[in-house]
Amino acid sequence: MSKRPFDNLFNFVIIVVQNFFVSLHQHLTKYTKTMETICNCFQVDRDTIVKAIKEKHLTTVEQVGEETNAGTGCGGCQPKIQEILKEING
Ligand code: FES
Repeated sequence: MSKRPFDNLFNFVIIVVQNFFVSLHQHLTKYTKTMETICNCFQVDRDTIVKAIKEKHLTTVEQVGEETNAGTGCGGCQPKIQEILKEING
């Protein structure tokens, strides 16, 4: 089995390009997730809610509402806020 002279270089380039796109996908996914609007009534995004929970040590949907207004309109986003609380506080 003889290798062609550029097999190793070709494989290297393929791996670098593949890793670039995997990394790009991860960054874009993370970025778009933080920008996700959680509360449509008050246009509050996930990042704002996460920051409030972490910085103020919030544990309830009501506390998140007091800090960000999220969840204090129609209430439709409260289950999502509860999920975020669970993700952060366990
Ligand atoms: S969508 Fe959040 S209160 Fe209505």
